[in-house]
Amino acid sequence: MATRFSIRTSGCQMNVHDTEKVANLLHHAGMNGAAEEADADLLILNTCSIREKAEHRLYSDLGTLRAWKAERAGRLIGVGGCVAQQEGDTILRRFPQVDFVFGTHNLRHVPALIDDAKAGRRRVETEENRSLERFDLPERHPALSHTTPGRAFLTVMEGCDMFCSFCIVPRTRGREISRPAQAILDEARHLVEHGVCEITLLGQTVNAYGRHDLRRGHSARAGTMPFHQLLAQLDAIPGLRRLRYTSPHPIFFDEGLIRAHGELESLCPHVHLPAQSGSDRILDAMRRRYTGDELRAIASALRGARPDLVVTTDLIVGFPGERDEDFADTLRLVQDIGFVDSYSFKYSARPGTRAPTLEDAVAPDRAQERLEALQALQRDLTIAYHRSRVGQDVEVLVEGWSRRGHQLSGRDPQHRIVNLEAPGEAGLEPGAFTWARVVEATPHSLLGEPLPPANLLGIASFR
Ligand code: SAH
Ligand code: SF4
Ligand code: F3S
Repeated sequence: MATRFSIRTSGCQMNVHDTEKVANLLHHAGMNGAAEEADADLLILNTCSIREKAEHRLYSDLGTLRAWKAERAGRLIGVGGCVAQQEGDTILRRFPQVDFVFGTHNLRHVPALIDDAKAGRRRVETEENRSLERFDLPERHPALSHTTPGRAFLTVMEGCDMFCSFCIVPRTRGREISRPAQAILDEARHLVEHGVCEITLLGQTVNAYGRHDLRRGHSARAGTMPFHQLLAQLDAIPGLRRLRYTSPHPIFFDEGLIRAHGELESLCPHVHLPAQSGSDRILDAMRRRYTGDELRAIASALRGARPDLVVTTDLIVGFPGERDEDFADTLRLVQDIGFVDSYSFKYSARPGTRAPTLEDAVAPDRAQERLEALQALQRDLTIAYHRSRVGQDVEVLVEGWSRRGHQLSGRDPQHRIVNLEAPGEAGLEPGAFTWARVVEATPHSLLGEPLPPANLLGIASFR
């Protein structure tokens, strides 16, 4: 019988997409996805290393998975992702229950690693590959097109050369490399031909796309172009209704990209702008290469180009040397820009990075207090924004059933979650677009009433 696999994913969208890429390869190799881990013969852990807690999750998972493995002879465990890239064969040595390990550049080798594991050869593939070979993957298998109806991720660049002092990503994802625009456009067209209408472009610093080629005068040879031009070419694909990108780095918001937000119809009015801190002193120690005022200027330029645009962010509290006044600067920045949402984290020391060598570590209790204060401010800003949307009509791309199971849930162009009341009557399904009237604001989402299709034309033409 064909091998049935299951994959657990931690971390960011790049990891979610890597899981899709691995699942795709396994389907092409004749394997099937298992409905549940209990039915699987092969379990892959796609790991994240961004904070210590994420890394530790792997070790605790591996502990409990000994029992899963012992339940049935022949079961296999593979470990991939950022912890695998970082730890390599240490994982095989420390954990006899692991059968193979693959790094972030070695997805293509997973089917061969599985064959070897079945033959009793435990192997590790974590070599950093600096060529474009790793993007040379088979087209999306039909078995996978139904997992995210209407939506897909598309990698445009990978790796990170920024080396922020707190961050492990340059060590787990390697050097920046951008794919030729033609390959990206071909992949986008293929997705759209197969029913995708929303594409999210991915890269660790996605708007740095092609920057090294441009600086060296190699763009033509490499087939790359400035990021905003790539966006314009994607926008021209008929049938692609929504275009998003994540995560950008603030220093790569040039005029062209800002203008694109006002000009490209499919480009969604949402930018995730990771700030990390509002204190110039801390931003400098983080090696972020911008100031709080520069962030304010980017946010207002974006809104100048597209007034309904929403800005969200990532923030770190408790970075070494962060004093009360630095944290106050962060609160002020959050308030000034009016982030509609944020992911906030307590600083976590990562091996091989610069920040752990800095003086004046912040006490854990203090960091916790700051986190709570920041999150309280964010809750106020989020709900205020949600309230401002009540009464508006929004276009929702339906994603699936909401957690409670009686509502359909989707996203509006600003990437806000919209739960739809009585979706059955409207005959809606995941992957469909609908207009809805926002009738209620909640802390995490909007509640919408689907508008009957009879109203649709009217609304669309008045927009
Ligand atoms: N490339 C993106 C960030 C990717 S990592 C950027 O440049 O902004 C995702 C988020 O994890 C970061 O934005 C940061 O807020 C958080 N993060 C990264 N390293 C961290 C660390 N050592 N401790 C706490 N949070 C961290
Ligand atoms: Fe990490 Fe900085 Fe690169 Fe973002 S830009 S992935 S925070 S090193
Ligand atoms: Fe984690 Fe690696 Fe993404 S460390 S956040 S999975 S790039």
